[in-house]
Amino acid sequence: MTETPLIEARNLSKVFAVGGGMFAKKRFIRAVDDVSLKINRGENVALVGESGCGKSTLGRLLLGLLYPTSGSVLYKGKDIWRMNEKEFKEFRRKAQIIHQDPYSSINPVRTIFQSLAPAMIQHKIVQSREEAFKRAAELLGLVGLNPPEDFLSRYPSRMSGGQMQRIILARALSVNPDFIVADEAVSMLDACLRIGALDLMLDLQKKFQHAYLFITHDLAIARYFILKGGGRIVIMYLGKIVEVGDGDSVIQKPAHPYTQALIAATPIPDPKISRERELPKLKSLDVPRLTEAIPGCKFNTRCPYSEKICAEVVPEIREVKGRLVACHFAENFI
Ligand SMILES: Nc1ncnc2c1ncn2[C@@H]1O[C@H](COP(=O)(O)OP(=O)(O)OP(=O)(O)O)[C@@H](O)[C@H]1O
Ligand code: SF4
Ligand SMILES: [Mg+2]
Repeated sequence: MTETPLIEARNLSKVFAVGGGMFAKKRFIRAVDDVSLKINRGENVALVGESGCGKSTLGRLLLGLLYPTSGSVLYKGKDIWRMNEKEFKEFRRKAQIIHQDPYSSINPVRTIFQSLAPAMIQHKIVQSREEAFKRAAELLGLVGLNPPEDFLSRYPSRMSGGQMQRIILARALSVNPDFIVADEAVSMLDACLRIGALDLMLDLQKKFQHAYLFITHDLAIARYFILKGGGRIVIMYLGKIVEVGDGDSVIQKPAHPYTQALIAATPIPDPKISRERELPKLKSLDVPRLTEAIPGCKFNTRCPYSEKICAEVVPEIREVKGRLVACHFAENFI
């Protein structure tokens, strides 16, 4: 029997309407376009794509922070938008987010303890203020902020960006989640702190066993995360998932022409990959806008391998040699 995924997107789409008024026509942004994806318990999935391709929108849909235009999100097999209030509240506790900018998600006029305690109390993880203090101190110790009591009484303005990112991680973990969306979680950290932050996230996963959707525009960071922690890489282009594969295989041998182009454009510190990597000569360097309706495969305006069918028929995502690829000619590339 196959395991019910922890979280699943089924033909999920989100369209934003922008503009409109007396003189401007309303435009529609297809930020997430018919996406299906399954994430299992304790699994790592790195979601990679260029800026504006819909990664955060997909993350927010999976967390129940955005209502889909069509399609559904299932948590342990249950449609989150058909849950009753109690079930939805429980789901929102189990599904947490870590943002790029830790300062924007913590109230600057509250101490760290005052920011950590309410969620634990509200979700009845602890029964009293004293218990909340004990647990908050434990969590800060786990994320490497010592002595914890010192940090609990501080205000965010007295913390560095790296320390604040650890607070955000502690806050997410404080309510015992089983799914964490880390949206560009290490992007704002200095390069020298990034690896430490990624290692910490993975160490804590071993202890708490939650699943990660690790969102990044940086393929090198995604590769580090997935190589170290194990898991899958998902590549997104203009609102669509174009490729899904295990561990390093997507980076070593990309199947979708867009993944090939993305990898060729990314400096990855691995001499083997650089030597073997071939840059497909794109027809155009311009990324189309999400408001443009592109018939067929969305990459056909840039793809060097496109044929007549590519501009006419949307390629369904399908399994090709253990990889999921949305390309009519995937067999040629894998
Ligand atoms: N609330 C909104 N209203 C209108 N448009 C939106 C909204 N949220 C996102 N968008 C648009 O949807 C598209 C996808 O945005 P999204 O933030 O999901 O991309 P992203 O891949 O996370 O980008 P980045 O790497 O820059 O964070 C963009 O064109 C964005 O402008
Ligand atoms: S379907 Fe056609 S246009 Fe799209 S990636 Fe494949 S070959 Fe290129
Ligand atoms: Mg984003």
